[in-house]
Amino acid sequence: MTSTIDTLLSHRSIRRFSTQSISSDDLNTILQCGRAASSSSFIQCVSVIRITCSEKRATLAHLAGDQPYVATCAEFLVFCADFHRHDQIVDDAQLGFAEQTLIGAVDTALVAQNCLVAAESMGLGGVYIGGLRNNPQPVSDLLALPQHVLPLFGLCLGYPAQSPEVKPRLPLSLMVHTDSYQPLDRAVLADYDQQVSAYYAQRTKGKMSATWSAQIKEKLTKESRPFMQDFLNKKGFSQR
Ligand SMILES: Cc1cc2nc3c(=O)[nH]c(=O)nc-3n(C[C@H](O)[C@H](O)[C@H](O)COP(=O)(O)O)c2cc1C
Repeated sequence: MTSTIDTLLSHRSIRRFSTQSISSDDLNTILQCGRAASSSSFIQCVSVIRITCSEKRATLAHLAGDQPYVATCAEFLVFCADFHRHDQIVDDAQLGFAEQTLIGAVDTALVAQNCLVAAESMGLGGVYIGGLRNNPQPVSDLLALPQHVLPLFGLCLGYPAQSPEVKPRLPLSLMVHTDSYQPLDRAVLADYDQQVSAYYAQRTKGKMSATWSAQIKEKLTKESRPFMQDFLNKKGFSQR
């Protein structure tokens, strides 16, 4: 076991924070770690917007579906796929390809995860805020994001004021396939469903005990964010 492995295996999202701020040195270290992430074709298509303005924080908390920790955490960062820089550098940059959307999403997630892991290794906690994609256009307007800059998610960071249990993940035998794709082992899934149900029952003192499969059914039997295709196209992503 290394301390890095210990940090990774101890991950759980934190949604309640103390009022302690993050020092500028520590924040700088966290962002340096994000900057060090691998980059597809060294294209470096990521921008991070640090939100210090409390009014903007409050608006973003609301736009993310009234998630109060966006306003109360010590630092809130918005992670964006960014090809605007490239558009300024290359006169005839060919943008709008679906492949660039994938690269943007992958590279941005790598930068953000480096930041979160670095923060967690320093005793901080955090939670990603995909809820920003509930209202991508107002978020984009509020942060003055130019064409070819896509707000993907936020990250709340701060000193934890709660200590939730680690949430059980799918067993490796369902996640990892050897040499070719394996069919779903329903017996293993049933065990996992029971584990997740017990985790929720304990965490909510019996108020909620959904299985993982039940949650997935709830999520995937309706369309989520139906405006996304239009927003992507409007921002200059996934047009071809
Ligand atoms: C891209 C992304 C977006 C997320 N968005 C939200 C969010 O808007 N609000 C929230 O409370 N949690 C959000 N989460 C946190 C997940 O709910 C959480 O990671 C998941 O339930 C697993 O729990 P854990 O992180 O505690 O292990 C997000 C996670 C990811 C990776």
